[in-house]
Amino acid sequence: MSDPGPDIPIATPAMTAARAQEIASSFDLRNLPADFNANPYPVYDLLRASEPVRAMPDGSWFLTRYEDLVAVYRDARTFSSDKKIEFAPKYLHRPWEPDADPSHAAPLFAHHTTSLVFNDPPLHTRVRKLIMGALTRRAIRDMEPGLITLVDRLLDDIGAAGSGDLIADYASAIPVEIIGNLLAVPHADRGPLRGWSLAILGALEPALSPEQEALGNRSVAEFLAYLEQLVADRRKHPGDPQQDVLTRLIQGESDDAGGSRLSERELLHNCIFILNAGHETTTNLIGNALVALQECPDAKDALLQRLTHYRDDAATLEGYLDSAVDEFLRFESSNQLGNRRATVACTIGGVHLPAGALVTLCIGAANRDPAQFDAPDRLDLWRRDNRHLAFGFGIHQCAGLSLARLEGRIAIGRFLARYPNYRLTAQPVRGGRARFRGFLSAPFSAAPRLPLRQMGPLPAAADSPDHIQRRAMPVCHVIHPTYRTSNGHYNTSPSRACANCARSHNASVLELWRSNKVCTSGSSGVCAGSTSKT
Ligand code: HEM
Repeated sequence: MSDPGPDIPIATPAMTAARAQEIASSFDLRNLPADFNANPYPVYDLLRASEPVRAMPDGSWFLTRYEDLVAVYRDARTFSSDKKIEFAPKYLHRPWEPDADPSHAAPLFAHHTTSLVFNDPPLHTRVRKLIMGALTRRAIRDMEPGLITLVDRLLDDIGAAGSGDLIADYASAIPVEIIGNLLAVPHADRGPLRGWSLAILGALEPALSPEQEALGNRSVAEFLAYLEQLVADRRKHPGDPQQDVLTRLIQGESDDAGGSRLSERELLHNCIFILNAGHETTTNLIGNALVALQECPDAKDALLQRLTHYRDDAATLEGYLDSAVDEFLRFESSNQLGNRRATVACTIGGVHLPAGALVTLCIGAANRDPAQFDAPDRLDLWRRDNRHLAFGFGIHQCAGLSLARLEGRIAIGRFLARYPNYRLTAQPVRGGRARFRGFLSAPFSAAPRLPLRQMGPLPAAADSPDHIQRRAMPVCHVIHPTYRTSNGHYNTSPSRACANCARSHNASVLELWRSNKVCTSGSSGVCAGSTSKT
């Protein structure tokens, strides 16, 4: 991390080697000091190097190596996501009884053990299929114009005030609307969603106070009561199942075994999960990115230079922003921990685990593993082969990852383009949690806008690297300026001559774009026709 300069409040203070060693030597996930939450990475480094599969005082195991996490994610049979056994002592304060009905249990237990993410197939497969059907590339692309309007409105409000809070006034205001739209929750009802979400997800922390537990239980009960009404109303007035995930879940679908649908309980709890899953994670992606850029001025300058240089080339800019968003996700992963239970005795990272072993997957540590990432502590926005695990991996890999990336690209890109000189005006306040990494508040000043030209030219060697170019859709020059405008809209107006092949492309080029193909132009000046973009 480069020196942010004297005026920038430090959100991620350095940790001395001695202090990191002290925390690592008695590492206990249920008892983490505040300075660890501020900067856990030196401790993760020590654990990864010395004991990558570390026994915890409570008998569980803590994994920090990238390759070990991938091995666990890959083997969903050996490593179960079903949390009934694990959560019974946490929320029911007694061991799980196999014949018990989860719907009669404490609300937090009933909720977390019914959501798809904490289940194995077949329930997991059934719910995931339904959700994925409403999160197609097309459905997500259709959300883009509304997202841009929302973001621009927030940016206008910030401009009028001249300052604000990165989290309250911006990062958290975006996902609540986008996820609310996904389930078509009426705008007037969205107020309590974030509070419920924070309380329910907060109850997943490794250590839970009685107050947090009570708030979590109350939040599930209130959320359920609200959704029961919403579902009853949606049954009477169904929406478009191609866009409305709630209608899709209500309508369910037949499976090969003879037409089972989600039960009412499964339906309600999975709605709660979707509303929660896309909330804090995406808020933290946007907030963490905008704070990280303050701490890494070189990276910020590099991104601003691309924003300036490619402001009329939406596709290349999109490539750069996509690459940056993935790096923000790797660098400060919003979701730092995942969990699995070994169904049989097995070996991971050379360590024997007994059947029933509880395993914590430290995504934050794996994403800084030097065996997988060059210079992992550097925010390298154009990093190649950035196969980070911020969205998990395997059968439970985040179902909303394309939506999250879209939100990140639009929110971060448009904020920087509007307020390139923003600066933090006070110390950002961290959420103080081990699992979800983000800020509760980050006061900032929007600062007057510099004309973009004053930001300096691109360094001569900064031609877009291949992996950025590949991500940018159009290769044929005619596609970008004619068919995709800088605000993300498709322009279907008549064709323009291709800058390379001089042929006129019209609607069929748009079709090539949509079908994930691009037109390539040969250097001879003859259009080489269409080819798959990958
Ligand atoms: C930056 C934002 C996000 C991050 C970092 C993130 C992270 C994750 C991770 C790590 C998992 C895997 C959990 C596991 O394997 O145990 C997951 C699952 C999931 N996420 Fe996300 N998520 C984000 C945004 C979203 C959004 C916007 C949605 C909205 C639709 C969403 C919906 C889901 C769902 C439904 C699952 C469960 C998938 C399954 O079990 O098959 N996520 N997410």
